[in-house]
Amino acid sequence: MASPDTDVSDLVDSLSLDEKCSLVRGAADPEGTATGYVPGVPRLDIPEFRLADGPLGIRIPGRSSTAFPASIAVAATFDPELARRQGVAMAREAKASGQHAVLGPGLNLVRVPNCGRNFEYYAEDPVVTADFAAAVVEGLQSEDVIATPKHYVANNQETKRLVVSAEVGERALRELYLPGFEAAVEAGAGSVMTAYNRVNGTHMSDHRRLVTEVLKDEWSFDGYVVSDWFGTESAVGAATAGLDLEMPGISLEALHEAFGIDPDAEMLEEGDDESIPAGETTTPRFATELKAAVGRDRAGLDRLDDMVARILGQMARIGLLDGDWDDGGALDAPEHRDLAETLAARGTVLLKNDDGALPLSDDADVALVGPGVAEAMLGGGGSSEVTPAREVSALAGIRARTDGSVVFEPGVERVVTPSFFDDESADAAGDDEDAGDDFPGGKTPDIDAAVDCAREADVAVVVVRDATTEGADRETLRLPGEQDELVEAVADAADRTVVVVQSGGPVELPWRDSVDAVVESWYPGQADGDALASVLYGDADPSGRLPVTFAPEESYPTASEERFPGVDDEAQYDEGVFVGYRHFDTADADDEPTYPFGHGLSYATFEYGEAEARGDDAVAVEVTNASDRAGREVVQAYVRPPAVAGVERPTRELAGYAAVELAAGETETVELSLSEHAFRRYDDAEGWTVDAGDYVVEVGRSSRDVRVETTVSR
Ligand code: BGC
Repeated sequence: MASPDTDVSDLVDSLSLDEKCSLVRGAADPEGTATGYVPGVPRLDIPEFRLADGPLGIRIPGRSSTAFPASIAVAATFDPELARRQGVAMAREAKASGQHAVLGPGLNLVRVPNCGRNFEYYAEDPVVTADFAAAVVEGLQSEDVIATPKHYVANNQETKRLVVSAEVGERALRELYLPGFEAAVEAGAGSVMTAYNRVNGTHMSDHRRLVTEVLKDEWSFDGYVVSDWFGTESAVGAATAGLDLEMPGISLEALHEAFGIDPDAEMLEEGDDESIPAGETTTPRFATELKAAVGRDRAGLDRLDDMVARILGQMARIGLLDGDWDDGGALDAPEHRDLAETLAARGTVLLKNDDGALPLSDDADVALVGPGVAEAMLGGGGSSEVTPAREVSALAGIRARTDGSVVFEPGVERVVTPSFFDDESADAAGDDEDAGDDFPGGKTPDIDAAVDCAREADVAVVVVRDATTEGADRETLRLPGEQDELVEAVADAADRTVVVVQSGGPVELPWRDSVDAVVESWYPGQADGDALASVLYGDADPSGRLPVTFAPEESYPTASEERFPGVDDEAQYDEGVFVGYRHFDTADADDEPTYPFGHGLSYATFEYGEAEARGDDAVAVEVTNASDRAGREVVQAYVRPPAVAGVERPTRELAGYAAVELAAGETETVELSLSEHAFRRYDDAEGWTVDAGDYVVEVGRSSRDVRVETTVSR
């Protein structure tokens, strides 16, 4: 039994069996605003309960809210305080729309570079993931909105997401896939959403060991566990395993109608097992079967009471049961817009910058090339889609900032991100000239025209993008369409070429040696053009760092069919803990990353003094901004474990980091606390183990750019 306060237990005792059953499953929202809705019990003054999608902003059908940058861009700031502020802002937007819970953060580890939802997740590293998940949870819940970390657990691909079994060992679960959820729970998350997939053969909604034994018993999680939408495999099995709330609790057809989902959307076709299938599997489970089953024995009734108490307990915690819930909040508030821009600029990663190609001079004549420059890159497709009230395209942002001329050419066909929704208001927010299918000024896609305008300009800025979505993985890490050809052709003709990549995760950049600068701006959200202009013209230092390794597709550890997408509905996670830089730093030299984890340049240059251990869980280093301009450095500390016979460990693991702002010439001593996570390893027989010995702490600018080191012992 959860530990509800007395009021909640009394309330549970006062409910009839039917009323209890109505509180553990969703229903259609009469107001049509919520993604998930639980009707109240008016007889006992239990109010309605509404859950709205995230994690990139609050999705309310027919309403606009702030479209924040994708979570991977937020993680690229390496500044969890910004994520906490994003949580606060999203909670205030949720409250303004009467939503009590937000379905986010998404915090599955980026295991597969092709995963269609990488943009909704944070990193390939569990320490970064845990920090950002905890920060967003704290922010959301500080405003009395319930956070819903998702999707628990090992939901690392979209291909066959409803059926695939992650065949994953305990060590990898413990070291990589669970820490983000544990941190979110420690931060007080009131809810956790189960994943669609199976883990070692069992659907997550039915996974008693992971849901009850690990999440609830081991981590003392006292909130409620909600299913993913239509992800409840069984009634009794799920309830017994620990699932507390079934969503959406209505049929797929009713959901389409209620939430404006386009029934013809590609990802939702009947029978396509990469999507939500229509028919039998979308029949609500808790509607009838549960009531019949719990009536049979005391254990069933106790479990139902616990489910209800967990949900009511969270409603009570935010003040909903005693009428104290503050529904103030604000949609599209000026400070939310500013935060969206700050996050987008800070998360922008400068991958390459030869001969000071960037920042641009104020009066440079720019050829702005690319099929998406007249449309802000809001995000990927799927449940995280948000409709902002305002959005700024690259074209609008650069035009507003420059003193030079800007000539635009699309070059190639539009790259269209698939949408789950047919919400008319989605088209309402574009820049004046962006609406519709035409390019501004009646331009048509023509690589030669792009080359001609690039030749005339001082600098060509080419903006390229991918198109990723929930429900499908990327077939290739190459950019869609003829964008690579466009970059090559422009780079051949232009004096200087700067490429801006807007992608949901790692992409291949085959032309990178032919261009002068490469900027990764992810899916920057509504502030796209303003944030981009501030980085390109040097008003903001590009202080983002890569939370994922960029490498050729075939060199990732998941580049085998058995590992991804799996064979016979099983994906083998037998790379173990060697995911992301843990693989690249340990593997043969053939598997060199293109840009390593943690990489990102600044317009300033930083010098590192000696590293000094402070006790055994912190390290200090003097960092000097040796340039003549202000800059923001992300100081990173990695731990190299001692060799232990018979134990395979990653070469290094991230233990801590700090983003610091330094004026020209300024020196600061930066202290980094070292997460114990980087020291310990999970041993299948012994559990968490810390080997005695000397651990080298490497301090530097990326997993491959170590500047100084020191040693601590365990
Ligand atoms: C997604 C969840 C989302 C839910 C509700 C599912 O398709 O996997 O992340 O919160 O839908 O929209």
